[in-house]
Amino acid sequence: MKEIVFATNNMHKLQEVRSILGDRVTLLSLQDIGCDVDIPETGRTLQENAGIKSKYVFERYRMNCFADDSGLEVEALGGEPGVYSARYSGSRDMAKNIQHLLEKLDGQTNRMACFKTVISLILDGREYLFEGKIEGRIIHEKIGDKGFGYDPIFVPDGYSKTFAEMDPEEKNAISHRAIAVANLTDFLFTL
Ligand code: IMP
Repeated sequence: MKEIVFATNNMHKLQEVRSILGDRVTLLSLQDIGCDVDIPETGRTLQENAGIKSKYVFERYRMNCFADDSGLEVEALGGEPGVYSARYSGSRDMAKNIQHLLEKLDGQTNRMACFKTVISLILDGREYLFEGKIEGRIIHEKIGDKGFGYDPIFVPDGYSKTFAEMDPEEKNAISHRAIAVANLTDFLFTL
């Protein structure tokens, strides 16, 4: 296999995955294949959304392709915000999303949560799914200014600091996204 499309417009994610795959695979972005559509994420699960994006590319361009979708799942909220993590408060403002989540958890003693990433790979027309997950807990107020999203309120199991207090190398060695990408690359390199 020579070329594979990563169905993302997020250059940071593309760079991260490119550095893991090295020169064994040529990774193309949506921009590289001339696809400038913001593929609508209308699914009700992370798996559905990842599949919508990978299938969109395969059906139109007939190229091998993968796509990812991630979210935070809080046990006491029945798995919310999950697939709606990016706009939990109704807007994309992460300060508002975090505030909304902390308010919903007010008075709740069960603070268990996990981050999940699902990757959908379409290879020769067949779908393969890969998952990465990291368990942890939601603290009561934001700590740290690194990372993004819900990082300032998430402390992974076995640690006493939030994702937002970690350097990128430390977070990327244990994150849900890193685990899912490792599962994908293990599969690609055994082909
Ligand atoms: P995406 O599918 O990777 O774009 O993630 C969707 C949303 O989930 C993001 O906008 C964040 O709110 C949240 N999220 C995903 N991964 C992380 C992470 O590593 N840290 C904090 N928040 C995340």
